[in-house]
Amino acid sequence: MRLAGKSALITGSARGIGRAFAEAYVGEGATVAIADINLEAAEKTAAEIGSSAYAVKLDVTDQASINAAVKAVENKAGGLDILINNAALFDLAPIVEISRASYEKLFSVNVAGTLFMLQAAARSMIARGKGGRIINIASQAGRRGEPLVAVYCATKAAVISLTQSAGLDLIKHRINVNGIAPGVVDSDMWDEVDSLFAKYENRPKGEKKRLVGEGVPYGRMGKPEDLAGMAVFLASADAEYIVAQTYNVDGGQWMS
Ligand SMILES: NC(=O)c1ccc[n+]([C@@H]2O[C@H](COP(=O)([O-])OP(=O)(O)OC[C@H]3O[C@@H](n4cnc5c(N)ncnc54)[C@H](O)[C@@H]3O)[C@@H](O)[C@H]2O)c1
Repeated sequence: MRLAGKSALITGSARGIGRAFAEAYVGEGATVAIADINLEAAEKTAAEIGSSAYAVKLDVTDQASINAAVKAVENKAGGLDILINNAALFDLAPIVEISRASYEKLFSVNVAGTLFMLQAAARSMIARGKGGRIINIASQAGRRGEPLVAVYCATKAAVISLTQSAGLDLIKHRINVNGIAPGVVDSDMWDEVDSLFAKYENRPKGEKKRLVGEGVPYGRMGKPEDLAGMAVFLASADAEYIVAQTYNVDGGQWMS
């Protein structure tokens, strides 16, 4: 068990990739806060995972909610060892149709949410004096722009940049900050992405998803579980000397 006795908080883990991280962490001996804006879904997920998982209400756009979630983990588990910044929103529109509301919503969740969650976790970890691990979920979308995906791509490029800056600043406290850049992963989010592509590229529903899967060098879309090994590794003792990096886990989609 590589995470025995560790306490983790995973944002947006009521479903999808975050849920797969939570299941893998519990399997490696960690106690995990399923922290999500959808408390009902978080409670259901925690109950399904078992007694090492518990639900925490969290809106990463709200500072009071961030502070309360970190406090809840300190009270429940005696401190926070690992944060995964996983919660994010997607949207898609041609440049001439992007709305300020969509821009502000995505930057608020994906970028400000990542930064201020990371800050609150780092403050808690520094006060405890035992170091820690922070893993930010970026995307292949952060590696290059896409014609219809300008805002989401920009948020994920910002996550990669924040991972570098926070990684360099926090390692003196023995807090390792690293990131994971998934490729295309079959989750509820991708069903929403498919519907948006169907609208803007005038395709039947499901076609974009099928095509992107066929385009992955590995031969299929990722599954949430495909990301879990890297998330366990980055939180484990084996990753002690890894700082400020973002790793692609994408079936060969991107080289960098
Ligand atoms: N699915 C993909 O193809 C893909 C590819 C690359 C990167 N990613 C990234 O992986 C991560 C997880 O993606 P997913 O596909 O599992 O997404 P998802 O939409 O299935 O799950 C996101 C979760 O975040 C929660 N959430 C939304 N707003 C929140 C907020 N303000 N505060 C707290 N929780 C909130 C949702 O309730 C949901 O449970 C995201 O960072 C996403 O950008 C996904």
